[in-house]
Amino acid sequence: MQLTLRILRFTQGDAQPPHYQDFTLEMPPSATVLDCLEEIKGHQDGSLTFRRSCRSAICGSCAVRINGRSGLACKTQARDVMDSRGRLTLEPLRYQPVIKDLVVDQSPYWQRYHAIIPWVTPKADLPERENRISPHEVERMGTAETCINCGACLSSCPIVLTDPDYLGPSALAAAWRFCNDSRDTRRAERLKIVDSANGVWRCHTVFNCIEACPKGLNPTWAITQLRNLIMREKLFGGHS
Ligand code: FES
Repeated sequence: MQLTLRILRFTQGDAQPPHYQDFTLEMPPSATVLDCLEEIKGHQDGSLTFRRSCRSAICGSCAVRINGRSGLACKTQARDVMDSRGRLTLEPLRYQPVIKDLVVDQSPYWQRYHAIIPWVTPKADLPERENRISPHEVERMGTAETCINCGACLSSCPIVLTDPDYLGPSALAAAWRFCNDSRDTRRAERLKIVDSANGVWRCHTVFNCIEACPKGLNPTWAITQLRNLIMREKLFGGHS
């Protein structure tokens, strides 16, 4: 099939402003958007820059905006997103400074993520063998632990446009995951962080994050659960 990729090009520090460049190429019908990018880089323009590693929707590094919607280039088949004339548009993720072409500086994403203490701080008296959690706890996490940190949800969230400090869907979903881990000792501290002005109460339940998540996760549900948990803690003092 023949298709044309319109790609937003930009190099940090370059005098040339961001601009679109069209690439026309011939690809097999099964080609993914990432296959198309590899084809352009290998045969048309070696300077085209994008991230990728696993090619299997696992590492999260190939997230871009495809026709304005955030998603993984390696998980998206080009024929599913091109228009009737074989055209599709690629742009970098939003809210993160562009380094070059489709590669963004992910610091704003990771700053948010690290802010919610995304690790287990265990009690001092660790068991001699495994430090286990129950299947019930894992179930309560609602698959939040399977997030691949691609950043597609943050890029699709309209709230970040009005509040650049909003913690965002993936960080809040991770907070819900760690708040349900009985091995952890910093739940109260974490809840205070997500209960802040830039935390769970900023979400307007627009649901864009659910649509953008390539792993089928539901950050909006996790945010709602966190709100309930905060309210229960305030009303009943930790008996949730
Ligand atoms: S290359 Fe790893 S998720 Fe796409």
